[in-house]
Amino acid sequence: MLENKVAIVTGGDSGIGKAIALELAKEGAAVTVNYHSNAEAAAQVKQEIEKYGGKALTVQGNVASISDLQTLVDRTLEAFGHLDIMVNNAGMETRTSVLDTTEKDYDMVMGVDLKGAFFGTQLAAKQMIKQNGGDNQNRKNAGRIINISSVHEDWPMPGNTPYCCAKGGLRMLTRTAGVELAPHGITVVGVGPGAVDTPINKGTLADPEKKAALNNAIPVGRVAEPEEIAGLVAWLASDKSSYVTATTYFIDGGIMQNSVGL
Ligand code: BGC
Repeated sequence: MLENKVAIVTGGDSGIGKAIALELAKEGAAVTVNYHSNAEAAAQVKQEIEKYGGKALTVQGNVASISDLQTLVDRTLEAFGHLDIMVNNAGMETRTSVLDTTEKDYDMVMGVDLKGAFFGTQLAAKQMIKQNGGDNQNRKNAGRIINISSVHEDWPMPGNTPYCCAKGGLRMLTRTAGVELAPHGITVVGVGPGAVDTPINKGTLADPEKKAALNNAIPVGRVAEPEEIAGLVAWLASDKSSYVTATTYFIDGGIMQNSVGL
């Protein structure tokens, strides 16, 4: 589905990002796996991709830094020649409320979850427009930008306020950039997972009581595996999704529609 495509996945060394990097590569894309601090984990993702004949590159960088993002794009172009799919996946949360969030917490979460996706979108879109001749008005399939958001782009999570604010911003980035970039043939789509078995949820899943409460809130009765998110991302990254833009797909086992406690 993705032969001859080149993708960047930020935070591709773990969790949902890792599953996405592997899935895009399985579908034929060359993948740049960005990581922040775990070089070994990123190298393992690269190895796994190469094991089944795929092409991969690892690039360290903090997505909250525009110059790191530029390096990520430059290194991808050096290695693979073009950029077709940008997955702004890197994310973090502090689990702090409006009353106890520090300036540092706020800047960190906004920096990674929103600024990183904003400038990741900008730099990727500039490259996609350039490589399509710069005049690609009304083209189709000139690029895909996929923002990994959360149910919390639209659904409050008390005690996780900076994260909700960042994801709410990401929701509007997806919509506004989607409208702006549509004439260039570039689509911008959000994917909003619910609870997934990833490092971000390690604390909750390690505590039997919290885990049971979470499972009880999810109609499907369990958290998702990262692979259950990656399949949709691969389809959105392909030419098959050409009419989908400026919107979010939720994959949440029904959690947003549940009425637990009523
Ligand atoms: C958050 C998790 C939370 C899940 C479901 C995710 O976006 O990162 O902390 O458990 O949403 O509420």
